[in-house]
Amino acid sequence: MRIRFADSRPEGDFALVLPVAGKDRSSVRALGSSQQAVATALDRQRFEGEASGVSEQFIDHNGTTRRLLVVGTGAGPISGDAAEKLGGTTAARLQTSGEKSAVIDLGGLGFDADAAARVGLGAALRSWRYDRYRTKLKDNQKPTLEEIVIVGGGSSAGERYQQRWVPVVEGVSLTRELVTEPANIIYPESFVERVQGSIKGSGLEVDVLDRAAMQKLGMGALLGVAQGSAREARLMILKWSGGGKGGQSTAFVGKGVTFDTGGISIKPAAGMEAMKWDMGGAGAVAGALKALALRKAKANIVGICGLVENMPGGNAQRPGDVVTTMSGQTVEVINTDAEGRLVLSDALCYVQRNFKPSRVIDLATLTGAIIVSLGHEWAGLFSNNEELAGNLLKAADESGDKLWRMPLAEPFDRLIDSPIADMKNVGPREGGSITAAQFIQRFIESGTKWAHIDMAGKAWADKAGPTYGKGATGFGVRLLDQYVADVLEH
Ligand code: BES
Ligand code: MN
Ligand code: ZN
Repeated sequence: MRIRFADSRPEGDFALVLPVAGKDRSSVRALGSSQQAVATALDRQRFEGEASGVSEQFIDHNGTTRRLLVVGTGAGPISGDAAEKLGGTTAARLQTSGEKSAVIDLGGLGFDADAAARVGLGAALRSWRYDRYRTKLKDNQKPTLEEIVIVGGGSSAGERYQQRWVPVVEGVSLTRELVTEPANIIYPESFVERVQGSIKGSGLEVDVLDRAAMQKLGMGALLGVAQGSAREARLMILKWSGGGKGGQSTAFVGKGVTFDTGGISIKPAAGMEAMKWDMGGAGAVAGALKALALRKAKANIVGICGLVENMPGGNAQRPGDVVTTMSGQTVEVINTDAEGRLVLSDALCYVQRNFKPSRVIDLATLTGAIIVSLGHEWAGLFSNNEELAGNLLKAADESGDKLWRMPLAEPFDRLIDSPIADMKNVGPREGGSITAAQFIQRFIESGTKWAHIDMAGKAWADKAGPTYGKGATGFGVRLLDQYVADVLEH
């Protein structure tokens, strides 16, 4: 589907979309002879113009029957969030409606260039779908909507959309694709290939470590997780140097477990298919780097994807095994299902030793416990630095990728001491996301500002949201993109 910006409504057939801010129905006043009928219908439908509220009607428009969507944006001035919801609601309603074209008329409603552009962003994000494996879609299940024309957003809205938001749509789409693909298709090696294919020409530098290279570096924790699988592990390194020479880079590190069976500490069968998206952190890192490169962000960023498949098997690691990490610290693997932190420990050591980043942000679908804490609304944020945490919370607010701060403290750290090694990979059930974060913190060198994002509840949605359908959300891409825009680019 195309998104286009124009000064006036085009000729011909289209569904007309009119935003209404709460009870202020001024936008529907320009409907001529249909105005009265539309107003009556809105009353009878008890339409109140709240954000994402929608009334669908058919009107007589100069002799032709036209589909009309009246979409609420909530009372008061237009926020970016309400603008995205307007675009998203429109796309969701019309995508398979039979309409080929839609016009969203923002004229006279006080949308500035960015708000108008974010209508386009919401529409583009919400219309993403992945039909590769659906060979038997009925005609009326197939998308019909070919374009959305956004009218009345001012002369620079189109440019703003192209420069600031199209790259983000591209990044989010890559992440969703990686997260959606099943684990027989996306495994460490093919993850790398898929990303490489997707970022061609973007200017990102790519480096890939295979098992032999990681063995040399002593990445015993990451490789321990991978050793039960027929698929070889990979470490993918993506580099964007848009900030010029000199100056420390910022690192994003993602957990990329392409499938998590739990290993020998195997998971129950019910719902295990969900563990194809246990690479959502790495997917977000890849998508964010793509977005930043496409919009030529003025920042130096390195993205690391720790890619493994966690399988049981004759060569799998056992509970009780002790592994030596790249940092030199040893870990007693009590539970092979607590594998994400093992992967991250070596990926984090690698990025600190090789790039000396001033800040490191890791993203991981790390614990079921964070879903117990925060449900599917917020991801958990852990950080050793107030400024970094504050900036991430701000980017979360702005981007809609919501974060909630969680504690780190010495009493939790003690819970992962081991009688045989430097630490064990699990603590007690209580505070499970916090002890996981404490584990990761043991691999953060002094002086590194670090944040850890436990996004286990956010990579996948069982119900549609304003800018995503059921399935992969692309969580994390917009957060990281916004963080870079706020902190590194101004
Ligand atoms: N990938 C899972 C966490 C997860 C669970 C993500 C549910 C999304 C939905 C992680 O590797 C895991 O298995 N964590 C264990 C840790 C436990 C063994 C300490 C968990 O949360 O149960
Ligand atoms: Mn696991
Ligand atoms: Zn996992």
